Amino acid sequence: MTELPEDPWWSRAVFYQLYPRSFADGDGDGVGDLHGALARLDHLTHLGVDAVWLNPVMVSPMADHGYDVADPRDVDPLFGGIDALDRLLGAAHRAGIRVTMDLVPNHTSAAHPWFVEALASEPGSPARERYIFRDGAGSDGAGPPNNWVSVFGGPAWTRVSEADGRPGQWYLHLFDAQQPDLNWDNPEVPADLERTLRFWLDRGVSGFRIDVAHGMAKPPDLPDMAEAGSPLLALGRHDPRFNHDGVRRIHRGIRSVLDDYPDAVTVGEIWVFDNADFAKYLRPDELHLGFNFHLVRADFDAAELRSAIDNSLAAASLAGSPPTWTLSNHDVEREVTRYGGGLVGLARARAMALVLLALPGPAFIYNGSELGLPNVELPDSVLQDPVWERSGHTERGRDGCRVPIPWSGDVVPYGFSTSPDTWLPMPSDWGPLTVAAQQDDSSSMLTLYRRAIALRKGRSRLGRGICWLPSDPGVLAFRCEDGLTCVLNAGAAAVPVPVPDGKVVLASGPLTDAALPPDTAVWIST
Ligand code: NOJ
Repeated sequence: MTELPEDPWWSRAVFYQLYPRSFADGDGDGVGDLHGALARLDHLTHLGVDAVWLNPVMVSPMADHGYDVADPRDVDPLFGGIDALDRLLGAAHRAGIRVTMDLVPNHTSAAHPWFVEALASEPGSPARERYIFRDGAGSDGAGPPNNWVSVFGGPAWTRVSEADGRPGQWYLHLFDAQQPDLNWDNPEVPADLERTLRFWLDRGVSGFRIDVAHGMAKPPDLPDMAEAGSPLLALGRHDPRFNHDGVRRIHRGIRSVLDDYPDAVTVGEIWVFDNADFAKYLRPDELHLGFNFHLVRADFDAAELRSAIDNSLAAASLAGSPPTWTLSNHDVEREVTRYGGGLVGLARARAMALVLLALPGPAFIYNGSELGLPNVELPDSVLQDPVWERSGHTERGRDGCRVPIPWSGDVVPYGFSTSPDTWLPMPSDWGPLTVAAQQDDSSSMLTLYRRAIALRKGRSRLGRGICWLPSDPGVLAFRCEDGLTCVLNAGAAAVPVPVPDGKVVLASGPLTDAALPPDTAVWIST
């Protein structure tokens, strides 16, 4: 295991999550791509972020918008191909921004040559052994091998037709049927992942966000779930589909490759809410960082927020790894909407941006958060998330948080594309939310984010912990190790803040008579 510097770059970095379909469209087909991202790189420079997390851009039929990978070592033409990625990497590095990529090791696309070969091969053949094929239940094999459900809804098994046309075995897919789960007990699978890791790291990528990092290993006997059915990505404690101890070996394998690239980082998507279990993923020979989703689930409520922060700090300290913070991502409702929507939701999201950026450890900003974008209510006819179909139209899915970014102008598509026909329709009232409308407005969300990130950069140290200060109910007040104090009023009435003159570093809204109005946060220097 390679010894890491005490304070590696990622331990305090601000990451910008760039969802390529939605960030910027360079070729006018209505879908974002890497040429578009390159053309808009200055947005990230002005924002002041240290690194990008790029959602999957590998070759994919896009059944789950890139999380169904058909060739893990090439970039899809939809996004501009691998040359576009190389150009983006070069320009980002010149701008001092590192680029991390999504890695999808739990499953492939059904269009991956391995799965195509598996379908054309006999049950029990080596090609089938790369995935999780089983005979069905019952004398005719007509029932699925167990009761597991897909995270997207419906059964986690799909039956195939064998070469002679008869109904045959079943294969496991924890997500869409187009995303067959790999068999990590087959040595070909980790060997191929190592090639993929080195392929991108050698190209200059600074690490990976690891999709479903708690999901690759399955218990050998595939026992039934106690409760069949769970909401999207929200796991119970004893769910046999996830968090099986076999993942340890897989993460150690990934880490041993990463140790050859000591500047690179791995961030696991770990939907595990028991702190001791979570911490296991971050042992010194496993992942560097883990996404902790307590804050993503918390409402704008002082007790909930405090407990989310405490839990994340406790999990990270158990692991001896920096805590990570994020308010939203491409899988969850945007925070403006989660906090109540409208002007109230926006004020709360502003306040929470200050909480996010005060806390020690890396922060992840989902594209559009810096503009205060809300979730969009989309009509049924345009929904694209596989969750909508697989849930039998009972879950609308995640499209509402993936609507393209508005850049300029007053009319759709606000500079996102030259085509008004964007892959998800943009609302007609987003003119005031564009980057152009916000960039010179000292009271805008974008300006708040820029200031907060710049101030954060100037801080000597973020440390690993915080100290809670006594406060009224409804208020969160904490002091960071470098002395910065953050106070958030999540209550219904203004509260006095004893702020000595000249000590307010940044406020998310106007302060009145030394009082902190509801839905406002302030940074105070000591
Ligand atoms: C988690 C990703 O964040 C989500 O977008 C994706 O659908 C699933 N993993 C399956 O890859």
